[in-house]
Amino acid sequence: MFDLENSITQKVELETLNKRSIDLFIKRDDLIDQHVSGNKWRKLKYNVDYAIQMKNKGILTFGGAFSNHLLATAAACHKIGIKSIGIVRGEELSIDSNDTLKNCSLMGMQLVFVSRENYSLRNEKAFQEELSFKYSNFHIVPEGGSNYYGLIGCQQILLETPNDYDYIFVAQGTTTTSAGILMAIPEKTKMNVVPVLKGFDAMAEMKNLFNHSGIETSFAIELLNRVEVLTDYHFGGYGKYTLELLDFMETFYEQTTIPLDPVYTGKTMYALFDWIEKFNISNCSILFIHTGGIQGGKMIAKKEGRTFS
Ligand SMILES: Cc1ncc(COP(=O)(O)O)c(C=O)c1O
Repeated sequence: MFDLENSITQKVELETLNKRSIDLFIKRDDLIDQHVSGNKWRKLKYNVDYAIQMKNKGILTFGGAFSNHLLATAAACHKIGIKSIGIVRGEELSIDSNDTLKNCSLMGMQLVFVSRENYSLRNEKAFQEELSFKYSNFHIVPEGGSNYYGLIGCQQILLETPNDYDYIFVAQGTTTTSAGILMAIPEKTKMNVVPVLKGFDAMAEMKNLFNHSGIETSFAIELLNRVEVLTDYHFGGYGKYTLELLDFMETFYEQTTIPLDPVYTGKTMYALFDWIEKFNISNCSILFIHTGGIQGGKMIAKKEGRTFS
């Protein structure tokens, strides 16, 4: 439905990499689709398949006022012709509050605005049962597409590449993308993850997700042993950025024409180059997962008068 063949694996040619004999490749999931780009379709694909197989009316999911996941769900359900419901954090909001919510609504998503207190119960069994009763026969997908079907969708990313890299770099929000990819890596590959939230316990989150998704504990531990968490690249926390980060992204864009966003992929690419310098890395191959976020990146680039997206 969305063309995964658009997601090429592209080699980056830069003098700083060549002189260290580092082969850097980027998996360009940002090229999948304008609305449903990056990891969004990966996390939704098998959830959508499930809803269709189970003859559900549609998908019910959760998100904040600017949630890309909500927008992607609305777009995917619209394209397939099934219904979508978005439970939105903030009872003061409406469909006219911003473009994300407006576009969700335009694509047929029924938006239900709930208080922050109620929203915090979104993963509780009792709250989900209430939703199932009220909106019967909808497939309920957690915020950010963070469930078993999201994991196996993300696992697919790596299977479209030669999958023989020494290192993989990927941004983390809910950890679904990184955990899914981790399930596909060969023994020789190590994964470096970059949480974009401050004070985020990446290992605990990944363990939790594996646990909830029915992945065997011994397998999960085995996989997590191959993960290095780079905790110092959140740049102040979610959605925060510095001039240094924007300068880095602008230079990277000038040299490669590959767009990045300051919320996820910019921080991760910055971490990658800093890690190379700090640990004097050489003679290896690295795969960077471009998880998208370009729409948001464009908005920030415009606001800051920069060119990086
Ligand atoms: C552009 C982008 N990159 C990375 C991530 C992080 O992915 P995950 O939440 O699966 O860890 C997100 C969040 O979904 C995102 O929107």
